[in-house]
Amino acid sequence: MIVILNFGSQFTHLISRRLRDLHVEAKIRLPDQVTDQELEDAQAVILSGGPNSVMDEKIDYNKKIFNCGKPMLGLCYGHQLIAHNFGGTISPSHTREYGAAQLTVLDTSDLFEGLDQTETVWMSHGDSVTTLPDNFQVLATTQQGKVAAMADHKRRIFGMQFHPEVHHTKHGMRMLQNFISMCGIAQKKQNTHDPEHIIAGITKTVGDASVVMGVSGGVDSLVASYAIHKAINDRLFCVYVDTGLMRQDENAYVQHMYEQLGFAHFKLVDASDIFLSRLANVTDPEEKRKIIGHSFIEVFQHTINQMKDEHGEITFLGQGTIYPDTIESAESSETAHKIKSHHNVTLPEDMKLKLVEPLRMLYKDEVRTLGTSLGLCDDYLNRHPFPGPGLAVRILGSIDKDKIRIVRHADHIFMQALGEFNYYKDVWQAFAALLPVKTVGVMGDTRTYEYMISLRAVTSVDAMTADWVPLPAEFLHYVSNKIINEVNGVNRVVYDITQKPPGTIEYE
Ligand code: XMP
Repeated sequence: MIVILNFGSQFTHLISRRLRDLHVEAKIRLPDQVTDQELEDAQAVILSGGPNSVMDEKIDYNKKIFNCGKPMLGLCYGHQLIAHNFGGTISPSHTREYGAAQLTVLDTSDLFEGLDQTETVWMSHGDSVTTLPDNFQVLATTQQGKVAAMADHKRRIFGMQFHPEVHHTKHGMRMLQNFISMCGIAQKKQNTHDPEHIIAGITKTVGDASVVMGVSGGVDSLVASYAIHKAINDRLFCVYVDTGLMRQDENAYVQHMYEQLGFAHFKLVDASDIFLSRLANVTDPEEKRKIIGHSFIEVFQHTINQMKDEHGEITFLGQGTIYPDTIESAESSETAHKIKSHHNVTLPEDMKLKLVEPLRMLYKDEVRTLGTSLGLCDDYLNRHPFPGPGLAVRILGSIDKDKIRIVRHADHIFMQALGEFNYYKDVWQAFAALLPVKTVGVMGDTRTYEYMISLRAVTSVDAMTADWVPLPAEFLHYVSNKIINEVNGVNRVVYDITQKPPGTIEYE
C-alpha cells in the first residue's frame, strides 16, 4: 500500500489511477490528517503537487512524514517540499513552466531506468529548487537548467518537478514503475471492474428493494444504470430531466437508447421552464452552476415522490459516482483552489434513500471497459462527455432562448460534420460555445453585427489535462461556412487552441 498525500493538486487522483494500472494499492490522505499508524503501515509515500508555494508555510502536515523512514516520491509541490524540508532552497522563477517540456536525464540508473536521455514531460509550476539538500543529487534538468528530478539514493527519497502521472508525460508510467520496483512493492491484480463481481454487489446491497436513478445519457450513469438493470430489472426506475439546456435531439436519443436497452421504467421530465426562468439575467458562472444544481435536486425529489405514489416504496438511490468523486478530492481539501463547482446530485437527508453506487471503485476509463463487458455498444460508450449544467456553461454570461437556439444549432452542425468526416471518434470531446461579443461582418451587401461562435475539440484521457486537436483546415473551413450560412445570429467562427491547463475544457 502506498499512501498518497494530497497537497491540493488537480492531478492527485491520477497518481492513484496510475498506481492501480500498475496493480498497486494506494490510499489518498490529506497531509494533516494522515495518522502516524498509516505512515507506519505504508510501503511508500507519495507527495502530490499543489497550488501553494512552500515558501508560504501555510500548509499544515503531519511532521512524521519526513522521518517515517519510508521510500518517498515528491511530485511538483511535493518535490519542492522535500527539498525545503531537508535544507535545500526554493526560489520563485522568473520564467514559469507550463505544459510540455524537454527533460535532460543525467542518471538512468534507477528512477529513469530504461528511458531516453531526452524525455517529454508535463510541467506546471512557478517555484523551482535552486540548491539541493545535503546527500541529494540531480537526476535530470530542463532546458532552462532547473533541477527537474533529484534523489537521495541512500534513504530512497526522490523528487520530480514535473508530473509523471499525467498522460502527456510520455514515459510517466515507466518512472512510477521504477519507483515501485525500487520500493520492492508487490504488484497484484484486483477484480474491481469484473461485471459479475459488480452485479453480485448490487444484488447483495439492494436485495428485494427498488432503486430510483437520475440518468443523463452520459457514459457513467448509463453504465451504472445498466449494471443495476441487469441485477434487479423492473425494480429500477430511471429519471431523465430535460433542463432545456440539452443538445439538439438529445432527449429523443436518450429515450430511444433506454428503450432499446430494455429498461422497464424510463421517465423523461420536462423541467425546462423552471431552469430557464431561474437562470434569466444570471451572468456569474458559479451562480449559474448553483441554480442548476439546486433546481435539479428539487425536480428530481418531486419526481421521486410521484413515483413512490405510483409504484410503492423506493428505498435506494442509484448513482453513477466514480472513484475520484468518493475520495478526499482536491475540492474538499483546504489547500486546493476550487476551479468549478461540479453538478453532482446530493439529495437532502430527509429523503432517507440509501445509496447504491456500482462504479464507486472505478475510474472513468474503467467504466467504459465495464460497459463493454456488460454488452453496451461503442456508439453509446464513446459518446463525448457532456457537462451536467449543459449548454449553460457554453453560453458565456446570461442565457436566453435565442442564445440557446444559436449554440445548439452551431453545435449540431459541428457534431454532424465530425461524424461525416469520421473525426468524432478521434476527438475526446468537442462542442460549440457562444461568445457574447458582437462583431461587424458583411453578408451579401449588408452589414451584420452578430455573435461569435468558438469551436473547441480536445484530446484527453481523463479530462485532467487536454490538448486541442489540430483538425484539418478544410474541415474547419467547411464547418465555419456552414455555421455562418445556416445559424441566424452568427457572423464569425473561431477555433480554440488552448491546452488544459492553463485553460479548462468548458468555458464556465
Ligand atoms: P473542465 O471544464 O473542468 O471539464 O476542464 C472537465 C470535464 O468535466 C466535464 N464537466 C462536467 N461534468 N458536471 C459534469 O457531469 C459538471 O458540472 C461539469 N463541468 C465540467 C467537462 O465537460 C469535461 O469533460
